Amino acid sequence: MDAADMGKDLERVLITEEELQAKIKELAGRIDEDYAGEELLIVGVLKGAVMVMADLARALHLPVQMDWMAVSSYGAGTKTSGVVRVLKDLDTDIAGRHVLVVEDIIDSGLTLSWLVHNLKSRNPASVEICAALRKPDAVKVPLDVKYIGFDIPNEFVIGYGLDYAERYRNLPFIGTLAPHVYGAS
Ligand code: XMP
Ligand code: MG
Repeated sequence: MDAADMGKDLERVLITEEELQAKIKELAGRIDEDYAGEELLIVGVLKGAVMVMADLARALHLPVQMDWMAVSSYGAGTKTSGVVRVLKDLDTDIAGRHVLVVEDIIDSGLTLSWLVHNLKSRNPASVEICAALRKPDAVKVPLDVKYIGFDIPNEFVIGYGLDYAERYRNLPFIGTLAPHVYGAS
């Protein structure tokens, strides 16, 4: 899927495919350096982090293991419910392991601060965060994000794993939706 396939639903492209891929390579380079000689488990947060996980994993020179968690903080729309539920837990025992949580976006930061707290209670060697995107409200929750792709304006974005009502995840770029898609006039 690309911009042309969206017709009038696309408002504008915020971050191009090229910019995303260059940033992922840059982050992978830092992660390779920081974890040199270590065994790393990267944990993707379903479903939004699928694209960034796939690209990051392939950009890394480090041999990594991959696992997934599914948590829900949003419903089908664009407003947070404030509730975090574990829909799928890790298959891996992370005790003594170096864990890097990979997320698509940090909005309020509530999801990740809850998740990091939950993972730390399992006695890993370390837990760090890598997120492709971060919104301004994230600063309100104390959250140590070691690897961040882009700081973006406080707008609802889609693409590169991010959806609106489960659509547009397979766009290779980050964009915003035209108001008519939300049912606004
Ligand atoms: P919090 O507020 O806990 O939220 O940091 C993180 C989760 O909220 C979702 N989210 C979005 N999803 N476009 C999306 O498609 C957005 O602009 C957006 N902002 C937040 C996302 O699931 C993320 O993991
Ligand atoms: Mg997500």
